[in-house]
Amino acid sequence: MYFIANWKMYGDLKSLNSMKKVIRFSKINIKKKFKIVYCPPYTLLDSFSKKINKTKIELGAQNCHFELYNGPYTGSISPTMIKKIGCKYVIIGHSENRLEGENDNLINKKIKSCSKCNLNIIFCIGESLSEKKKNMTRKVLKTQLLKGLSKIRFLNKILIAYEPVWSIGTGVIPKIKDLEKDIIFIKNILKNNFKIKNPKVLYGGSVNDKNVKNLASISSIDGFLVGGASQKAKKFIDIVKKTIN
Ligand code: PGA
Repeated sequence: MYFIANWKMYGDLKSLNSMKKVIRFSKINIKKKFKIVYCPPYTLLDSFSKKINKTKIELGAQNCHFELYNGPYTGSISPTMIKKIGCKYVIIGHSENRLEGENDNLINKKIKSCSKCNLNIIFCIGESLSEKKKNMTRKVLKTQLLKGLSKIRFLNKILIAYEPVWSIGTGVIPKIKDLEKDIIFIKNILKNNFKIKNPKVLYGGSVNDKNVKNLASISSIDGFLVGGASQKAKKFIDIVKKTIN
């Protein structure tokens, strides 16, 4: 099971203190089969990398540029740069970035270059509320997958995060039965269209310590991408505990 903490545009050096609890928790549970990945803002990647050095916790970035190394791209950070600072993961295609103009084509370019760099890619897909109301969920998910993963050679480091846009930050989660079917639908596309033998699909959107037990009852789920509830160490640890115990 994967537990990805997406801090979004929150956190400063002080918030790193809360990592002590998470590090302690991960040490006690070192033998259990789960992965914790923190994705703080770029400004904290270096400090985070030092803090979690030699622990079970891994580091990820929340986005990056499509250019593999360097270039005249003011304000951007390349896959190589985040890798060098200690990231093993990167989130690509988050709906908050899509809302700011990232399209499937750009996302595909980013995935291509991140996979060349051997980063694990947390590729986010999900339908909006109006698409859901029009019964377009499956069509949207399929298009995002086909376009995002088009002509990617190394697919073994891709994790899909299914995040319905209407569920992010709203406290509303999908019905368990619907979610179960949608995860299987996504896995089938990954198996049939991309020949991925053992696809991994995480769920994201308002995951918290109260609803996680229910969500984790879905046997095909491989983990969670957690936004708001990942900013408090205790809550995040509770999410992990309630899933693995
Ligand atoms: P949320 O965010 O848990 O606050 O809904 C999830 C995400 O955006 O990845």
